[in-house]
Amino acid sequence: MTIHIGAKPGQIAETVLMPGDPYRAKWAAQTFLDNAECVNEVRGMLGFTGTWKGNRVTIQGSGMGMPSFSIYANELIRDYGAKTLIRIGSCGGMQPHVGIRDVIIAMTASSVSTPSSAILKEFNLAPCADWDLLSAAVSAAATRDVKTHVGGIYSSDVFYAERPDLDEQMVRHGILGVEMEAAELYILAARHGCRALAVLTVSDHLQTGEALPSDQRERSFGDMVEIALEAAFA
Ligand code: ADE
Repeated sequence: MTIHIGAKPGQIAETVLMPGDPYRAKWAAQTFLDNAECVNEVRGMLGFTGTWKGNRVTIQGSGMGMPSFSIYANELIRDYGAKTLIRIGSCGGMQPHVGIRDVIIAMTASSVSTPSSAILKEFNLAPCADWDLLSAAVSAAATRDVKTHVGGIYSSDVFYAERPDLDEQMVRHGILGVEMEAAELYILAARHGCRALAVLTVSDHLQTGEALPSDQRERSFGDMVEIALEAAFA
């Protein structure tokens, strides 16, 4: 057990999918895994371990934002030996050609700051995905009926952003979408020699103000989970 994860030694798989929402972790485990067992309930941040096509996998909620994400990812890597971590979650679209329900596979994750900023100081590390996971996810997405984009995203510290000038620079520099966790995931994976990827579903759009109705969320999120699982075990 760690401070934030109640799983016993051996109950966490080497491959971990990390949605922000603990209830989405439960839904994904019940929908896609065989023999899913709840391995964490501390603070309601649910985690489940089961198998997918015979491969052991854990789906652990991370909470929202990089500080929360960093707690779970650090404990999964350092105390439970996680080796492959894939964020699955939602993001806001940032480009006119990126639509609601599209999937974004994040090649890089830019930020203004992350929990690692304090140790990196002036070193401007470029957080990037693991190439094998990225290319396997792109191949998996190509077999599905879902529009997919591959490129840079932005990991924000705020959901309710008040910097239109920053949004403008992001759009100008081709950022596809905005979410709140991937940059710290990519930095931690680099530091600890793990593989990392973020596969995201566009749930809202910053320019159009469109948002995915809740009754249509599951189908789109299902594509993302399956792309992540196929990439992890390619
Ligand atoms: N996650 C989903 N939509 C988002 C947005 N617009 N900003 C930050 N994170 C998000």
